[in-house]
Amino acid sequence: MKRLNSQLQQDGAPLELILLIRTLLAGCKEISFRVSQGELAGVLGSTLSENVQGETQKKLDVISNQILKDTLSESGYVKAISSEEEDTVVPCNPDGNYLVSFDPLDGSSNTEINSLIGTIFSITHAPQWMKPEDPSAFLQPGTQMVAAGYVLYGPSTMLAMTTGRGTHLYTLDKTHGGFLLTTPNIKVPEDTAEFAINASNQRHWEEPIQEYVSDLIAGTEGPREKDFNMRWVAAMVGDIHRVLCRGGIFAYPFDKRNPKVPGKLRLLYEANPMAFLMEQAGGLGDTGHGRIMEVMPEEIHQRVPVLLGSKNEVEMCKSYYK
Ligand code: F6P
Repeated sequence: MKRLNSQLQQDGAPLELILLIRTLLAGCKEISFRVSQGELAGVLGSTLSENVQGETQKKLDVISNQILKDTLSESGYVKAISSEEEDTVVPCNPDGNYLVSFDPLDGSSNTEINSLIGTIFSITHAPQWMKPEDPSAFLQPGTQMVAAGYVLYGPSTMLAMTTGRGTHLYTLDKTHGGFLLTTPNIKVPEDTAEFAINASNQRHWEEPIQEYVSDLIAGTEGPREKDFNMRWVAAMVGDIHRVLCRGGIFAYPFDKRNPKVPGKLRLLYEANPMAFLMEQAGGLGDTGHGRIMEVMPEEIHQRVPVLLGSKNEVEMCKSYYK
């Protein structure tokens, strides 16, 4: 099976980007090991602190964040980091050529039930003019990403990644510690009969998504004349992995409870990387009002509504917004 390096070279990734990705993945392999130790290493449960988003930090959130921060800042390739677990940007090497944004442990409440969790990341060029402590360089639309992906810590540890030449899936071979290409150029089926949404928020949704989901639930008796199934892992990495592998639509829509917070998921290290992976696999990533990757971020922890997945189903959902 092909190794990660050869695939990245074949996709034309520059050497420095390949080295940066390898460094990032070395950190993810360490996270994968810590996660698999679970209760044995005393890493489960919460800390007494909250992150900048007001979420209680799990011990594994803090550990994973520290691992990635240390590996990336020591690498020399990175000018600055933005992380879900850091209030502001973390300055690294002033001469580094890249910016990395990440959610070190997405879905971390799943650690308590030994269920799916993962690391999500996106990489852009660092502008020459930028000072490492200046957050403004992170405020680029997703179209500027040079690479993005996630590492899923499941029954096997898998990597989904794109550098803009298709989305490829790799599996970590723990016998030698390398990621091997297991599904090159994955394609998301254009049509689907599966959706993923946290339906307990239904009363807070806007009209268009209310109508869309009611039509899905109405099944063969409704306007879609077809039965749909629903799945919810409560970790974006797990839900998006399923959608990449067998199609579907994943939605975390705008929620009327707090008009100042336009959705739950964060643009830089959740919505954008997943939209890049999805588009490169033939799917779509939209907010309901436009392409996720064209949203101009206003701050590093900005949230956006997301619709991700099978092309025809995302288009169908969007049509309710018009
Ligand atoms: O980081 C946010 C996140 O944990 C996502 O991974 C996941 O899709 C979502 O929140 C789960 O939300 P809820 O708590 O509404 O199920």
